[in-house]
Amino acid sequence: MIDLSLKYMGLTLSNPIIASSSGLTNSLDNIIKLAENGVGAVVLQSLYEEEIVTELKQNFRDISLKNNVQTESMNFYKNINVEDTLTSYLSLITNCKKRLKIPIIASINCISSDYWPYFTELIQKSGADGLELNISINTYDPNYKTNQSIEMYYKIIEAVKKHITIPIAIKISPFFSEITSTLTKLSETEIDGMVLFNKFYSPDIDINKVKLIDDHKYSSENDYSLPLRSIGVLSKRAHCDLSASTGIHNSEVLIKMLLAGAKTVHIASVLYKNGFEHLGKMRFELETWMKEHNYSTINDFRGILSQDVNINQAAHSRVQFMQHYNEKG
Ligand SMILES: Cc1cc2nc3c(=O)[nH]c(=O)nc-3n(C[C@H](O)[C@H](O)[C@H](O)COP(=O)(O)O)c2cc1C
Repeated sequence: MIDLSLKYMGLTLSNPIIASSSGLTNSLDNIIKLAENGVGAVVLQSLYEEEIVTELKQNFRDISLKNNVQTESMNFYKNINVEDTLTSYLSLITNCKKRLKIPIIASINCISSDYWPYFTELIQKSGADGLELNISINTYDPNYKTNQSIEMYYKIIEAVKKHITIPIAIKISPFFSEITSTLTKLSETEIDGMVLFNKFYSPDIDINKVKLIDDHKYSSENDYSLPLRSIGVLSKRAHCDLSASTGIHNSEVLIKMLLAGAKTVHIASVLYKNGFEHLGKMRFELETWMKEHNYSTINDFRGILSQDVNINQAAHSRVQFMQHYNEKG
């Protein structure tokens, strides 16, 4: 008898596949369909911190904003009724919890710890099982100082933890220097989970029209190597659960992520591409593979191919690199 259930961030999931935050997770109808197709948990489409701060500013005009990016990006919401957006978000959580048994994880896309964290209390009161913070600090800003973005991660976690007790995960950028030590230290904060990685807006160039285009909204099935490598390196070091995100399009990659040490995977692009029925196929193929390998639970094999913490990693990787590229001819 195969058992796919597991704990992620202290929550019980029937299987390790999470519907990642996207336009597919912003309505009750879709979330019911995801549940019917056997998803393990759902992360709701993100609210932006600017939406919360815009509402505050409209109702309490005396707040002064310190963050230039936040001030400029709030213009986007100038003609939108953000109060309705916030109310609908909270109702969506409550309605999901009334109708469904799967964990519902709310999501906020944030860049600062200013003003908005109070709203997480309302998210908790509405019944969310957890909160994912999509921390989207633009590391390409030439005005940023060394460590400025990572310091903001700490501030955001601390600010949010003052307001809520439900588990929180952070969805993070792959663009850090000293990524292993940076993420290991971050995992020692009060977070319960870390999602590797956030997919950033990645512009391309149309050489015929000579202009920038947004052609990489969805991942491709070859995009999984960066999260796979990082999960493998971090899994025995991290002090919180790890979830893999980006490029997980099939059961083979799902199994690779679990072998590397992920507790769960987040998927979005493949649901856009293949529909919600794809969840059933991934689960069935995971079960079949487990049967073939005589594993009855996820914990029987999770992390068995993660990196050993006791060997000299720098030297080990260098030797592997040399072996890989040193073929003559
Ligand atoms: C259309 C679309 C909308 C998305 N919206 C959000 C969002 O609101 N919040 C968020 O954290 N991630 C969002 N994402 C990112 C996904 O949650 C996911 O992390 C990313 O697409 C990588 O996973 P994938 O390779 O399975 O697509 C979105 C992705 C897509 C394709």
